[in-house]
Amino acid sequence: MDKVLTKNFNVNDMHRFDVAIENGAYSSLEKLFSMKPEEVIEEVSKSGLRGRGGAGFPTGKKWNFIPKDHDNPVYLVVNADESEPGTFKDRAILEKDPHLLVEGILITAHAIGARTVYVYFRGEYYRPWKRFFEALEETKAKKILKTPQYEVVVHTHRGAGAYICGEETALLNSLEGFRGIPRIKPPFPAVEGLFDCPTIINNVETLASLPFIIKEGANAYRKMGTRDCPGTKLISACGHINRPGVYEVEMGTPLASFLSNQCDGTIEERELKAVIAGGPSVPVLTAKEALGIKLDHESLLEAGSMLGSGGLIVMDETTSMPHALLDIARFFAHESCGQCTPCREGTGWIHKICSRIARGEGKEGDADLLLSVAKNMPGRTICVFGDAVAAAVTSFVTKFRSEFEAGTI
Ligand SMILES: Cc1cc2nc3c(=O)[nH]c(=O)nc-3n(C[C@H](O)[C@H](O)[C@H](O)COP(=O)(O)O)c2cc1C
Repeated sequence: MDKVLTKNFNVNDMHRFDVAIENGAYSSLEKLFSMKPEEVIEEVSKSGLRGRGGAGFPTGKKWNFIPKDHDNPVYLVVNADESEPGTFKDRAILEKDPHLLVEGILITAHAIGARTVYVYFRGEYYRPWKRFFEALEETKAKKILKTPQYEVVVHTHRGAGAYICGEETALLNSLEGFRGIPRIKPPFPAVEGLFDCPTIINNVETLASLPFIIKEGANAYRKMGTRDCPGTKLISACGHINRPGVYEVEMGTPLASFLSNQCDGTIEERELKAVIAGGPSVPVLTAKEALGIKLDHESLLEAGSMLGSGGLIVMDETTSMPHALLDIARFFAHESCGQCTPCREGTGWIHKICSRIARGEGKEGDADLLLSVAKNMPGRTICVFGDAVAAAVTSFVTKFRSEFEAGTI
């Protein structure tokens, strides 16, 4: 497997421009600028690259949604909000190889015709922001922050620490200075996004995959991963494992081998109980389910879950599932933006019920009550936050029901 993202993670001072250049940074630009923008989009489409922010939407297809006949500026917005619990892979790129993202930004700017770029950082990500900002300043000073036609102006923007601002339209509202709450779609951002202009929003890891695709070509990228999910993916692994960390794997890697090879198994070889493969907003998998899946979008969908952000949380036999769900419910109740009633009230009720179950004061029927609250949330809200919470809660309660029955804690 070629390392697309982590090749230079262990190079000292890789965030410094001279060190980055010595290690191949910006070497895709010569080829890039010999290509027309539509050829770049075509190459990215051919590579099969899918967004790494969670939904897995094909990147080239998204870029093609920009209207061909418009007079407004096109914006590129980079989503560095990374607030999904257990997800810390974008942070690794920003801290260890920030020039990889700057190069990805230049590739995208050239492809979609963006002269202005905003990088939106999670509020708490001071160090990743600083690393990126310094790398950006150095690149600017070297006068390579441009395409052959125009200068590319890149602004960094630090959020105030709201999870919902990772949702692309809430992010746009926040950037515009409004309250960070999702917008109704359509119109989709590619048509009407930042300041009502065509806007492409992409995740950090998505853009950091581009230099390899341009340099080595779409076919080299497609050689890795699966047919529908080509390439590599960063997995941030945490929980009851011996070696937590950020690992680059080929899409389609069996979770069982990932657990033993990269994570070095569970702590003290305790029995695996459950795995969350893509951050707590995706359904939990039992040990049996988890050991049968592969790390790619299709395999996880088939197993009734999602790859999401690649935030892998491992739970061993010592885990109390009601307590684990309580942690998740507390987070979601706190982070619901409150705009839609089913999500605002539903997350609050779920948190309340989980709290009393975890305190050992659960009432008869609480497991069913949780399922009923969750059933009334999906499809009734502006964004998918509520759907995600409902699916996570339903999976915990149905798969580990006996632990949620009153009196068992
Ligand atoms: C509640 C919520 C939180 C999200 N948080 C993030 C995030 O932190 N980072 C991210 O890249 N995408 C996040 N997304 C997905 C974005 O809305 C969007 O799909 C993504 O940035 C698109 O980039 P991609 O196509 O490169 O994946 C979130 C979505 C939702 C519904």
